[in-house]
Amino acid sequence: MAKAPDRITIRRPDDWHLHLRDGTMLAAVLPETAGHFGRAIIMPNLVPPVVTGAEAAAYRDRIRAALPDGAAFEPLMTLYLTEATDAADVAAAARSGLVRAVKLYPAGATTNSASGVRDFDKVRGVLEKMAEVGLPLCVHGEVTDPAVDIFDREAVFIDRVLDPIRRATPGLRVVMEHITTTEGTDYVRAGGPDIAATITTHHLVINRNHILAGGIRPHYYCLPVAKRETHRQALRRAATGGEASFFLGTDSAPHVDAAKETACGCAGCFTAPNTLSILAHVFEEEGALDRLEGFTSLNGPAFYRLPANEDQITLARSESPVCYPAKLETGVGPVTIFDPGFPLHWAPI
Ligand code: DOR
Ligand code: ZN
Repeated sequence: MAKAPDRITIRRPDDWHLHLRDGTMLAAVLPETAGHFGRAIIMPNLVPPVVTGAEAAAYRDRIRAALPDGAAFEPLMTLYLTEATDAADVAAAARSGLVRAVKLYPAGATTNSASGVRDFDKVRGVLEKMAEVGLPLCVHGEVTDPAVDIFDREAVFIDRVLDPIRRATPGLRVVMEHITTTEGTDYVRAGGPDIAATITTHHLVINRNHILAGGIRPHYYCLPVAKRETHRQALRRAATGGEASFFLGTDSAPHVDAAKETACGCAGCFTAPNTLSILAHVFEEEGALDRLEGFTSLNGPAFYRLPANEDQITLARSESPVCYPAKLETGVGPVTIFDPGFPLHWAPI
């Protein structure tokens, strides 16, 4: 048998779904992504949200100002879709290259989604304009109906919301964000070239038992919540199988420990520091290290119609485990770094 590689060189990865927050937190977490990734799609769920082109430009300036000296990282901005969003503003922000996607949060679905969409008819004009100019819609795909079980909310969203929107808006390009179910992978596979999906690092690693069995683990709680093991296996097949419609969106979402370890904890896993180590581990386990580059560095740019990064990074495998700190100190409190629950041997060099 051929010896397993102990180095792998790939085009520099991009993160197609990232939360950077703002202010002190932004300054603390940004270097964790900018050190290894070329670009990231920046989520707009600030308080207040990033709704207009002018707000996206100002947020981009704050991100650039927070970059470590010499970092070549490029933030790819998004707009937060509200029922009052102005289609002409969206089109202008897209045409100028400022904005690369619009984010749809069903109102109440997750962190800072209160300004999201309740009545999908009210955003029809914006969606039609987006289809016309080719601007992708990034979708948080969960219904908010309290009568729907939290573990079913993604599957129900596809039937009740996403499929009707796509049928009503031919040509609309959609990224189903952070898919967590076989229904999600099946829907994307059947959907043709106008739909793709991001998959997070943590959903490749944990299932719902990790959150709930043997004690409640708030640092594994995120939205969409991790599902049962069969779904995790489906996500692994989608991520490592070489299909162009699946690519990395970490959904790295920092919250200070005080906001996670409480009676009503926030959703979000902070994976930016060790994501590439974990992904190399997962792809090696699946016998698919040769497909890591497609997932992290090629499929995403192809869908977003951007060139892949020109430069490369190398990941090396060491015999002794790579140690990451348990927490990142941020200036507003510690943020726990996602613990995959197994030793990591791969790391970027
Ligand atoms: O786990 C999550 N955290 N899911 C989301 O959709 C939002 C995110 C956040 O902003 O914390
Ligand atoms: Zn997110």
